Amino acid sequence: MDLKSVIRTIPDYPKPGIMFRDITTLLTDARGFRRAVDELVQPLAGAKIDKVAGIEARGFILGGAIAHQLSVGFVPIRKKGKLPYETIGETYDLEYGTDEVEIHTDAIEKGERVLLVDDLIATGGTAMAAIKLVERAGGDVVLCSFVVDLPDLGGADKLRALGKNVTALVEFEGE
Ligand code: PRP
Ligand code: MG
Repeated sequence: MDLKSVIRTIPDYPKPGIMFRDITTLLTDARGFRRAVDELVQPLAGAKIDKVAGIEARGFILGGAIAHQLSVGFVPIRKKGKLPYETIGETYDLEYGTDEVEIHTDAIEKGERVLLVDDLIATGGTAMAAIKLVERAGGDVVLCSFVVDLPDLGGADKLRALGKNVTALVEFEGE
C-alpha cells in the first residue's frame, strides 16, 4: 500500500500558499494507520528506547501507538498552558506563526533514550523545540520519526546537521 495515496493535500490551508498535508485520512484508513505505525516501529527492532515523546496534536496519535507497540512509556509534549504539573517550555517559529511547547519536568529520567514522534516535519522548528525540551528534561533523543517530511523546508536536514537521526516515511517535494 502507498502511504502517500492516503494522505490528503489541502491547498491554501491554514493560509494562502500553504499546501497542508493532512494525515487524518491516513489515520482513518485502517491499513494506512497500521502500515504507518509498523513502518515506524520496524527499524527499531533491537534498539534500546526508554520512552516515546509525541508532539501535540497529531504526534500524540502516532506516538501513542508506537509507544504501545514498543511497550514503553509515552511523554506528551504539549502546547503552552495545557500540562498541569511543573513544566519547562521552548518557543519556536512555525511554518506559519510562532508557538510554544512544554514538557513536565519529571517526565523523563536522566539518561533515558527517547524516540521523538510527530506527524510531519517542515521547517523543523517544532521538532527542534521538542528536542531541546527532552534534553533539558534529562533525556537523549536517539531518533526523530515522522510520517511526512517536506524536504524543501529543510527541517530534517537541520536536525541531521545537529547529529540527530531522522526518519520519515513519505516525502512531498516540489509539489
Ligand atoms: C504541524 C505539524 C508539525 C509542525 C511541523 O503542527 O503537525 O507538528 O507543524 O512544522 P515545522 O517543522 O515547521 O515546525 P501544527 O503546529 O499545525 O499543530 P498541530 O499538530 O497541533 O495541529
Ligand atoms: Mg503538529
